[in-house]
Amino acid sequence: MKATAAASPNLAIIKYWGKRDELLKLPYHDSISVTLDKSLRSITTVEFSPTNKEDTMTLDGKAADEKEKKNIRLVLDYIRSKAKKELKATIKSENNFPKASGMASSSSGYAALAVAASKALDLQLTQQELSIAARIGSGSACRSVIGGFVQWKKGNEKDGSDSHALQIADENHWEEFRIVTGIISNAPKLIGSTEGMKRTVETSRLYQERLANMPGTVSGIKKAIIEKDAETFFELAMKESNSLHSVMMDSYPPIIYLNDSSRQIIAKVHQLNETEGKTVAGYTFDAGPNAHIFTLAKNENDIKGLLNEIEGLKGINVSVPGKGPEIIHD
Ligand code: PMV
Repeated sequence: MKATAAASPNLAIIKYWGKRDELLKLPYHDSISVTLDKSLRSITTVEFSPTNKEDTMTLDGKAADEKEKKNIRLVLDYIRSKAKKELKATIKSENNFPKASGMASSSSGYAALAVAASKALDLQLTQQELSIAARIGSGSACRSVIGGFVQWKKGNEKDGSDSHALQIADENHWEEFRIVTGIISNAPKLIGSTEGMKRTVETSRLYQERLANMPGTVSGIKKAIIEKDAETFFELAMKESNSLHSVMMDSYPPIIYLNDSSRQIIAKVHQLNETEGKTVAGYTFDAGPNAHIFTLAKNENDIKGLLNEIEGLKGINVSVPGKGPEIIHD
């Protein structure tokens, strides 16, 4: 009753921000992401045993904190209820990428957990059920159970049974597509995403405007992905990131994740697009100052050059779209 799975983090193009159900992690709107390649992976082993008295978890060699324990248990409980088993588990999860990679590991960690735990109990869950199991751990993780370009459908049901990810296009669809990350800080977020989302939903008036525009943003980005329309994609991705950071700023007290280096990058990407006479790159920022720049292979070096001029840059990481999770041992 043991299995190991590997999963990669995903980077949101349309950001999930705002929960209509905190426990089940149900969002107010759809989101879209790209799953990254396996140079960034969480590898998680789950072993269920009748001799275990409780669930125990080690993440990168350290005991999980209380919040992680709670979310891991929620995922295990979902899997145990599907398997109709009460067994407790021992979990060990490691990232092959350092915290200093500029990528959060929660999406890959919970996706690998869902896949390993269901395999360890010999369950044949559908991709949608695995996505739901991962979502219960960390919302954005529901997108990491699928490779390539992925949409998380917000769903309408109260129990979250229709809130899961679906593939838009696989990892081979857009070969020239690159994600160049400019690492500005490895420090933990100033405000956790749960608390930040809650504050935005409760206090930002602009958030209603964001929700009203969301169906148009989702269909526009989806179309740009399917048609590999790079210029439209980059432009919509930047506008979406700017919308997210506007509602954060409109929250009270304001939530500010971007810093001077992030703002310099924003200005330089616009300058580059202007010099080129077309949109050759687009930035996106999550809940932190690190810049993720979407571009095509032929412009990768220009983007690296642009980032290398930024004060306070700690490193650069380049990713391509990657596959969904894999079982690595039975
Ligand atoms: O799943 P969480 O709670 O880590 O929230 C992720 C929120 C963002 O990274 C900012 C956006 C997203 O869709 O990944």
